[in-house]
Amino acid sequence: MKKIVVIGSKGQLGSELQELSVQHPHHQFFFLDKEELDITNEAAVSETIAALEPDFLVNCAAYTAVDKAESDKDICYAINADAVTFLAKACAENHIKFIHISTDYVFDGFSDKGYKEDDVTNPQNVYGLSKLQGEVNALKNNPDAVIIRTAWVYSVYGANFVKTMLRLMQSKPEIGVVADQMGSPTYAADLAHAILQIIETTNWKPGVYHFTNEGVISWFEFAQAVKDISGADCKVNPITTEQYPTPAKRPKYSVLNKNKIQAAYAIRLQPWRESLEKCIVKLTNR
Ligand SMILES: NC(=O)c1ccc[n+]([C@@H]2O[C@H](COP(=O)([O-])OP(=O)(O)OC[C@H]3O[C@@H](n4cnc5c(N)ncnc54)[C@H](OP(=O)(O)O)[C@@H]3O)[C@@H](O)[C@H]2O)c1
Repeated sequence: MKKIVVIGSKGQLGSELQELSVQHPHHQFFFLDKEELDITNEAAVSETIAALEPDFLVNCAAYTAVDKAESDKDICYAINADAVTFLAKACAENHIKFIHISTDYVFDGFSDKGYKEDDVTNPQNVYGLSKLQGEVNALKNNPDAVIIRTAWVYSVYGANFVKTMLRLMQSKPEIGVVADQMGSPTYAADLAHAILQIIETTNWKPGVYHFTNEGVISWFEFAQAVKDISGADCKVNPITTEQYPTPAKRPKYSVLNKNKIQAAYAIRLQPWRESLEKCIVKLTNR
């Protein structure tokens, strides 16, 4: 039996962990979102974690509004960077294994092959910079931490690309989706499973890891698959990044190499389309 605290529990990943916890009654879970614990409050973080005394703490809380972050730098850094110091420190002081989630946006996207964990980082936007600072703060204050970088996260919970596409496809005869940014989607339910697998391993190996679903696609191909699987009657047109300007710059190629997590924790990666099918079936049966 492990005692596990999940922070940011009402987000996409936190909600998937909550759903998954039902299948793991042998563990004791504590789910905390902003109302129960605002991670920017250092004293509250320290007191809450010391009082709960878990074996593991999974930080799913983050400022994830990538475009808004460009004009909301202070709060973005407070949540994604400073608060990670508070969590990492509290975990180190109380001998709690700390699992923190980061992003593909720590890379610049100028590569044409999957980024490895120790490749040079070079974030292109405020969100990516704040998440990179969070990684640095996590490892500086808690070298025993596990950091999992993930990308293009979607779920039945919260707001995400898949749900936005489904909504747009219901209301518009055609849409344009960026075809010159490549990456790999991540079904948050699959990431939740991987996190549980790491928790249940007897051989904890700290460090940075990459996790997404298997396969490389563009946002356009992702949208086309959402259309095909859902059977929506909407034309999906490929457009360029220039045709869809956003406040935050996105990496052109943000594919993560996942060899390390597969080797260290024997984690099997699901093909992106199979996971997308599962999510859309679940969404349409709700
Ligand atoms: N979404 C993606 O595409 C993506 C891609 C790469 C990496 N990631 C990373 O993956 C992790 C999980 O992402 P996600 O998509 O599950 O995020 P999400 O759905 O946006 O959830 C984040 C959660 O954190 C909470 N939160 C925000 N500020 C907080 C605070 N001060 N104290 C406590 N909780 C706070 C949010 O509450 P409110 O909603 O009430 O603010 C929300 O419940 C994050 O680390 C994210 O950076 C995500």
